[in-house]
Amino acid sequence: MSPRPLRLFLDSADPEQWERWLPLGVFHGVTTNPLLLERAGRPCTLENLAALGDRAFALGAREIHLQAWGETTDQLVACGRKLVGLAPQVAVKVPATEAGLAAARRLIGEDIGVTLTAVYNAGQVLAGAALGCAYAAPYLGRLDDLGRDGTAEVVAMQELLQNTESPTRLLTASLRSWDKVVELAWEGCDTFTFGPAVAEGMVDDADTEDAADAFAEAAAKMGAEIIE
Ligand code: E4P
Repeated sequence: MSPRPLRLFLDSADPEQWERWLPLGVFHGVTTNPLLLERAGRPCTLENLAALGDRAFALGAREIHLQAWGETTDQLVACGRKLVGLAPQVAVKVPATEAGLAAARRLIGEDIGVTLTAVYNAGQVLAGAALGCAYAAPYLGRLDDLGRDGTAEVVAMQELLQNTESPTRLLTASLRSWDKVVELAWEGCDTFTFGPAVAEGMVDDADTEDAADAFAEAAAKMGAEIIE
């Protein structure tokens, strides 16, 4: 299977973070969930998610992942149908539970893009691929927290999708460092979601800062005037 273009997502429900990171243009979109809404102090309501969707796309997001809530398949489907209408390009997130898989099947049957989230094992990735989920999101950091080898398991999941030539993207989540993203990309992973703290790793190289400062000093010394 030919490699797919890299796709990065900012894992945050905080528009102030979106305002900093989305204009860089490196993120395909944003991923959210009720925990991230709680951390951002934002209500988990259709009204607020609609406003967040407007803001994300105004800032350049091309896709927003919104997580459905509810306990039963019917509740997840009903919520997902509401979520998909809130913004131009929405992926509906459902957990990789039995109710989530059944909801995914019905939502996909209505041409709704689905992200299977809270993935902890390769079998769930296989189920998501069989369903035709757009994404399956393993929680690497949490796998490590459980004493498992999150990196090895995620790389194996990626290989599984490539070997079965599945269009499902492995959206690796629960990432704790930029170096881990780079390592996984080396191993063939191509789709990631991570928070602002990890994104800092993209822009905090002290040597690059020093080199940029030297350019600025030389330009100023040679008469360059700042152009506003
Ligand atoms: C994914 O959708 C979650 O926001 C996040 O990645 C979960 O992992 P964490 O709680 O370990 O960061």
